Amino acid sequence: MTIYDEYHLKNIVIKNRVVLPPLVRFSKVGIDGFVTPDLIQWYQDVAQGGAGLIIVEASCVCENGKLRPNQIGIWNDCFIKGLSQIAEICKKYNTPSIIQIHHAGFGEDISTISEMELDLILEKFVVAFFRAKEAGFDGIEIHGAHGYLISQLNSKILNTRTDKYGGTLEKRLYFSKELIKRTKALFNEDFILGYRMGGNEPTLEDGIEIAKKLEEYGVDLLHVSSGIPDPDFKQEAKIHMKHAFPMDWVVYMGVEIKKHISIPVIGVRKIKEEKDASWLIENKMLDFVAIGRGMILKPDWVNWSKNEYFKRTGIKQK
Ligand SMILES: Cc1cc2nc3c(=O)[nH]c(=O)nc-3n(C[C@H](O)[C@H](O)[C@H](O)COP(=O)(O)O)c2cc1C
Repeated sequence: MTIYDEYHLKNIVIKNRVVLPPLVRFSKVGIDGFVTPDLIQWYQDVAQGGAGLIIVEASCVCENGKLRPNQIGIWNDCFIKGLSQIAEICKKYNTPSIIQIHHAGFGEDISTISEMELDLILEKFVVAFFRAKEAGFDGIEIHGAHGYLISQLNSKILNTRTDKYGGTLEKRLYFSKELIKRTKALFNEDFILGYRMGGNEPTLEDGIEIAKKLEEYGVDLLHVSSGIPDPDFKQEAKIHMKHAFPMDWVVYMGVEIKKHISIPVIGVRKIKEEKDASWLIENKMLDFVAIGRGMILKPDWVNWSKNEYFKRTGIKQK
């Protein structure tokens, strides 16, 4: 098997194992949050460049939950038309696309946000999922990583709440579980439920437990990135790695988490070379590799990598 083998997820055919991870393209979006021709061009370049799956950048469920002023919005029906143009351009190149749904959280401690406020945000995520489906995407990805709102809730360090949103692991995951429950009807065989989680929340052992729960709740595709590390952990790798690994520690977490679940896993971070992507996929350590900055540099990364692959392996291109 190679990174160029297709993968069937529900009814959706993903033509290879290379994913565009969500990348907010600030310079291509205004403060109104609307999709622009420049942004559509970027997704066209990546789709044309051969990516197997496109995860559209973090779209915000409410205006005061943005991570930066110029981030795409999904908090109102008026955004559906622009978003649908991204879904459409991806379809033109037979590239399934899912959109990341996001809330950045507040400057304050997650444990001091009122329960009612979280109930309202949960409802905003629900309607955002409906908008994503209406816009024609093949699914959504919940942004549950990088220290943003859902990552804060999942975090054993930050979430010290004593209401329904905090406590045991199961209760810290209440927001995600309830969101998935309330939107279950959307996720038929043509609509993927993705989840980007922090593999270290704060330890990898916590990440493994979170991943198992997410699988149980019905997540179809897991994307392992970073979470909120233990502040006392000063090394570059924010976890204890049990064995030597030739790539980034975030990729390592994806590989380790995959061993404990049966849904497909996307690994990410600092994967740039074809030989590294191939090593991870050919050895079944991951189901998909995401190439972020590598694709900003080369939107046609997949097509480019094929030449590298044929050169390296000596296999003749058909
Ligand atoms: C410009 C830029 C924007 C990003 N935007 C997002 C985002 O919208 N959502 C997200 O989950 N991660 C985001 N990330 C993180 C990337 O998805 C990815 O995990 C990270 O860049 C590491 O992968 P790479 O080394 O292949 O770039 C962003 C990263 C960069 C550099």
